[in-house]
Amino acid sequence: MLKGRHLIEPENLTIQEIDEICSLAEQIIVDPVSFQDVCRGKILAALFFEPSTRTRLSFEAAMLRLGGTVEGFADASSSSTSKGESLADTIRVVSSYADIIAMRNPKEGAALLASKYSNCPIINAGDGGHFHPTQTLTDLLTIRALRGTFENQTIGFCGDLKFGRTVHSLTQAMCRYPKNKFVFISPKELKIPEYMIENILKPNKIEYTEAERLEDVIGDLDILYMTRVQKERFFNEQDYIRLKDSYILDAEKMKLAKKDMIVLHPLPRVNEIQPEVDDDPRAAYFKQVKYGMYVRMALIAKLTGAL
Ligand code: CP
Repeated sequence: MLKGRHLIEPENLTIQEIDEICSLAEQIIVDPVSFQDVCRGKILAALFFEPSTRTRLSFEAAMLRLGGTVEGFADASSSSTSKGESLADTIRVVSSYADIIAMRNPKEGAALLASKYSNCPIINAGDGGHFHPTQTLTDLLTIRALRGTFENQTIGFCGDLKFGRTVHSLTQAMCRYPKNKFVFISPKELKIPEYMIENILKPNKIEYTEAERLEDVIGDLDILYMTRVQKERFFNEQDYIRLKDSYILDAEKMKLAKKDMIVLHPLPRVNEIQPEVDDDPRAAYFKQVKYGMYVRMALIAKLTGAL
């Protein structure tokens, strides 16, 4: 039963619930008209204390396409946070206006804190370097749609594996399905954190390797998940400048990949995927954003109890 629940991290959902949400999203994709009124009379509050294009606008589009309405802010400076109002008070207030809240906040743990003070479901739309569960659902729906399964995949994560919250969440999610293997491709400064290895990969006996050169491993992959070097999480601008162009996927490197590999990226991209790759049929990152809207439609419908 998903009605009334909060979604703070991917682990809040069982495998069966992920399946339920993805199946509903697939039904919406096939017949969106049948779902255009299911949230009529309901309000989504989109509270974005940190910049976003995809997550905020896809949440808003999702609620509007379900027949509901949307309120909120895209910048904390236009809210009473700028006058010193606490997050707890903001949530107490907004949850008395809205039926569901999607919130992004730069502080790790902010969504969990918000859930303690909310009268309606909180969806974590990203809390600092911590979790971004609806990106994980987006990635899972994309994998299921384009690879047909969550099992027996070799997944390469490339780029900023230290600060990339989407990498940590998708790794954790895909570890729950059998026979998946992971290849972590990064410079040594941006390696997958030790806690991911010690707490997730090793205890679950998951097969993984680490590499520094994408060319050396791209031919082994079923899924290549590219990431942006997260400028906003660096303490030192010089380190960011040194590392930002560590990996650039281009047509030459794509020649080394399997014919049915898919390329994912949570976006926004900076330089890490050259525009020439966009026309390659294996480039799936713009399809991925559309799956993101459908999976958020399914999630909103489930958490509000509309379906
Ligand atoms: N993928 C993602 O979270 O994009 P935005 O930062 O634009 O929301």
